[in-house]
Amino acid sequence: MKARAARRRTALVSLVRAFRDAAAALPDALVAIDDERRIRWFNTAAGRLLGLTWPDHLGHRVDEVVAIPGIREWIASGGAESLPDVTAPGDAEVHLGMRLIPYADDHALLLGRDISQVLRLEKVRRDFVANVSHELRTPLTVVHGYLDLIEPEQIPEYESILRELRNQSRRMTQIVEDLLTLSRLDAEDALPETRVAMGPLLRTLMRDAEGLSRGRHEITIEATSEHDLLGSPKDLYSAFSNLVSNAVRYTPVGGRIAIAWQTDTNGGRLAVRDTGHGISPQHLPRLTERFYRVSTSRSRETGGTGLGLSIVKHVLQLHGAHLEVHSEVGAGSTFACIFGAERLLPPEPLCEEA
Ligand SMILES: Nc1ncnc2c1ncn2[C@@H]1O[C@H](COP(=O)(O)OP(=O)(O)OP(=O)(O)O)[C@@H](O)[C@H]1O
Ligand SMILES: [Mg+2]
Repeated sequence: MKARAARRRTALVSLVRAFRDAAAALPDALVAIDDERRIRWFNTAAGRLLGLTWPDHLGHRVDEVVAIPGIREWIASGGAESLPDVTAPGDAEVHLGMRLIPYADDHALLLGRDISQVLRLEKVRRDFVANVSHELRTPLTVVHGYLDLIEPEQIPEYESILRELRNQSRRMTQIVEDLLTLSRLDAEDALPETRVAMGPLLRTLMRDAEGLSRGRHEITIEATSEHDLLGSPKDLYSAFSNLVSNAVRYTPVGGRIAIAWQTDTNGGRLAVRDTGHGISPQHLPRLTERFYRVSTSRSRETGGTGLGLSIVKHVLQLHGAHLEVHSEVGAGSTFACIFGAERLLPPEPLCEEA
């Protein structure tokens, strides 16, 4: 019996060692912490990337010895959201994605994955799109310019071909412009912040909608707030007008479109509501992906590329805001931009004459 127990113990110890050795060999930083955030164990990569020394740092509070800005608050909040891009305290060349994984009785694993290569590839992709779009701009302008010189009516046998060439070159120019806008937004950490006067902006959006609709829809403004927004006027206009043009494009003749602006103590909400085709639920999570279109044939018919909502998402992100979409097939859609209260500016007092 005793001999069997001893054999079992030896087997168990070697199993535990094997697990530790495997975890120690991981290229990702791994730190096991207890319920008081004290370090119980860490692997070689954690020593190198997080600047920990074995065994000196064992028993220390992880948020006191790992120099990552905001780590204390992050762990205190439960770390449900990962920290997406952190410079490794032990090696400034390395970027880490940090996650906190809870296990048994308030213990947790702090995991730091080396994401430098992913970020490098992401940058290569962004630069590639920006460069190609930029290079395409000049030849397209030339093609477009020449096509504009020819009046299709003057050459009746090529009239339809010329019109189609014009349409397609206009469309290509729009795609290139949209890609350049996305590249610019991608590279930006913040946008200029000034007062965005909502009254005039809503009226411009309404005029745009009427221009696109040409009397085919009933368009209204529902503004219950006098507040303005703090942000980049050009980019917010571009985002909102994308929503408005979608509402017009994807709503059949006779439909209704409302542009609404309302605020309360929690923040502001700019919504574009339509009684159009609607979108089925499986498409909703993917709408803001680049080039994503729900019905390719309908979008092609209406000249859509699938970049509009991607631009909306980026612009909102840079304003700390987000997009909410409610839609029902056959009934219509609401696209709402939700802004935090810190983005709201009370109406400017009217200048009193001296
Ligand atoms: N109000 C809406 N009603 C119904 N479908 C919509 C609405 N808004 C967007 N969609 C669907 O979402 C897709 C993506 O919209 P998005 O604005 O990104 O691209 P797009 O309109 O096709 O092209 P563009 O790049 O010119 O905006 C559209 O192709 C359309 O299928
Ligand atoms: Mg669109």
